[in-house]
Amino acid sequence: MTRRGKGPLDPETLLRLGTSEHYEDPELYDFEYRDHRHDVAWYRGLARDRGPRQRIVELGAGTGRISLPLCHDGHTVVAVDRMPSMLDHLRRKAEGAPSDVAARLEPVLGDITALPLPDAGADLVFAPFNVLMHLYSWEDLLRCFREAARVLVPGGRFAFDVLLPDLEWLTWDPEERHSVTHFTHPRTGAAMVYSTNHTYDPHTQVCHVRIYYDDAPKRPRAFKPPPEPVQVVHLAHRQIFPEELRHLVAAAGLTLDSLGGNFRGARLAPGTDSQCGLCTKPSGHV
Ligand SMILES: C[S@@+](CC[C@H](N)C(=O)[O-])C[C@H]1O[C@@H](n2cnc3c(N)ncnc32)[C@H](O)[C@@H]1O
Repeated sequence: MTRRGKGPLDPETLLRLGTSEHYEDPELYDFEYRDHRHDVAWYRGLARDRGPRQRIVELGAGTGRISLPLCHDGHTVVAVDRMPSMLDHLRRKAEGAPSDVAARLEPVLGDITALPLPDAGADLVFAPFNVLMHLYSWEDLLRCFREAARVLVPGGRFAFDVLLPDLEWLTWDPEERHSVTHFTHPRTGAAMVYSTNHTYDPHTQVCHVRIYYDDAPKRPRAFKPPPEPVQVVHLAHRQIFPEELRHLVAAAGLTLDSLGGNFRGARLAPGTDSQCGLCTKPSGHV
């Protein structure tokens, strides 16, 4: 978490911080998403259904929330991420796993728009938990989809999940604090309050989320944000609409098998919060 001075941040800085700040404290990341499990089961099921010992590439693998369970299941995982902090934490976690599990994991520092991986070496490519929303232009998104297609074997599958844009939520009051949650910091033990607000730019389709970490009030009472935020973490998420996803899949030469509204196969509909995409690389793909 970073303390910073006053004044608005320029758009370039906002995007740079928006794709890195949230990932500078991997312990806090794991703590905040400790109950986020339904996606893990979905990706594990996709690998299991395809057979034992799959060769998987995870795009934006982070701390291995998904990679490590896949390795536990007997698959090999190339875990690609651009943040050394996240990959270092993943390596530390792998050291605590049985040696055969750790041996199946290969953390790779790299960018998901230019994978440092050979052609046609993966049975499955996964891009879980909104990783694609960190690609802020359609060009970068297309580069990433093409890279996924390139590293897959013919017949291999690419699966991803991103949020379903919710225009009502995106246009909430950017000054109000939402998701106010009292918590004990997992490392420092300090009593803190987590809250967020966000600003949506319809021109770039990027939603700039600000995550505030404030000291908890001394006496129990309703949380009132202090006049000056103590710490703010920026998170920038490009909104990706279903028709864009269908276009990206087709432009990368992949076939879209399904685009569901959650991890249990629901149809996309108002109120569903995710878009879970499953694609195949056709056998004739070059
Ligand atoms: C929301 S986290 C997801 C991590 C992990 N997949 C999970 O499900 O917990 C997004 C991850 O994508 C990584 N990331 C964002 N943009 C990236 C890029 N262009 N190339 C590689 N990794 C990227 C971030 O560093 C972060 O670790």
